[in-house]
Amino acid sequence: MNLASLIAELHRLRDSALEAIGAAPDAASLDELRVDYLGKKGRLTAILRGIGDLPPADKPAVGAVANEVRDEVERALAERGRLLRAAALAARLEAEAVDVTTPGRTIGRGSLHPIVETSRRIAEIFGQFGFVVYEGPEIEDDVTNFQMLNIPPDHPARDLWDTLYVDVEGHLLRTHTSPGQIRVMREAAPPIRALLPGRCYRYEAIDASHASEFFQVEGLMIDEGTTMADLRGLLDQFAHAMFGAHRPTRFRPGYYPFTEPSVAFDVRCVVCNGRGCPACSRTGWMTILGAGMVHPVVLRYGGLDPERFQGFAFGMGVERIANLRHAVGDLRLYMDNDLRFLEQFR
Ligand code: PHE
Repeated sequence: MNLASLIAELHRLRDSALEAIGAAPDAASLDELRVDYLGKKGRLTAILRGIGDLPPADKPAVGAVANEVRDEVERALAERGRLLRAAALAARLEAEAVDVTTPGRTIGRGSLHPIVETSRRIAEIFGQFGFVVYEGPEIEDDVTNFQMLNIPPDHPARDLWDTLYVDVEGHLLRTHTSPGQIRVMREAAPPIRALLPGRCYRYEAIDASHASEFFQVEGLMIDEGTTMADLRGLLDQFAHAMFGAHRPTRFRPGYYPFTEPSVAFDVRCVVCNGRGCPACSRTGWMTILGAGMVHPVVLRYGGLDPERFQGFAFGMGVERIANLRHAVGDLRLYMDNDLRFLEQFR
């Protein structure tokens, strides 16, 4: 091997290395090329083995060219490496790009249960007359649920409330919200205007109009000189706000042990407007609540002097009101948790 052909071979090696490097697709193939060309057992070393055959004067010239070639190949490797890294980064940035201006996914919005919504509407209407919401316990004692409401243990009126008793002596699941009257009277001084919404329980055979679990809203007003006329006026305002401004209303005689006199409060049937239909049993009227003047015995149990204070109370079934507002015919629907029903109230 002479000097010229050795140098020519070095240049060929350089050219083929640069071409291969320029075409290398990734870092791994670059590594392979480095080993193949510049490694201990690589092509450059192989060529340089031929130096031994050269006259000593020629050796430095080959050495200089070999160094140049090595440098050039190394620069090319480094350059290609940078390029590949930059391209990989750009590709990754593009692949992982997040458009921060994209609007977020909306969360499905829930809605109030029709019973909660109706209770709030009732509270809102009475709120305009100064009634404040107060909540009593669902587990009541027998004395507050019955006795202090003028329903002694042997009173036949107890038959009206088929009671669910709990395992604690003298306690039960309240059968109505009326025991809240006693609690409010004992806690607050007149003038009292309280609204008591809540869940009540009775031992019932369940059907479209009977549930063992249901909601009531109780109202209580106590002051000096409160009369039946105040009750009538207030309930008229309520009926008009709830069922329409010109809806006729009426009082009918009723009976509750804790009010005297007692009444049932009717509104003109919201289905047939008084013509008579199955919804109102062809009477043209619908009873929406029971009410009356608070019995003196109850006032006394509440710690108030009946000679000085008078008041009225009323109690309505929330399901009943919700049925009329939303034309629902079966109160079991309120407890079924069926979204096909509940989603209609959004
Ligand atoms: N507590 C009675 C019931 O459950 C309703 C009522 C409340 C009547 C207040 C008169 C006064 O049926």
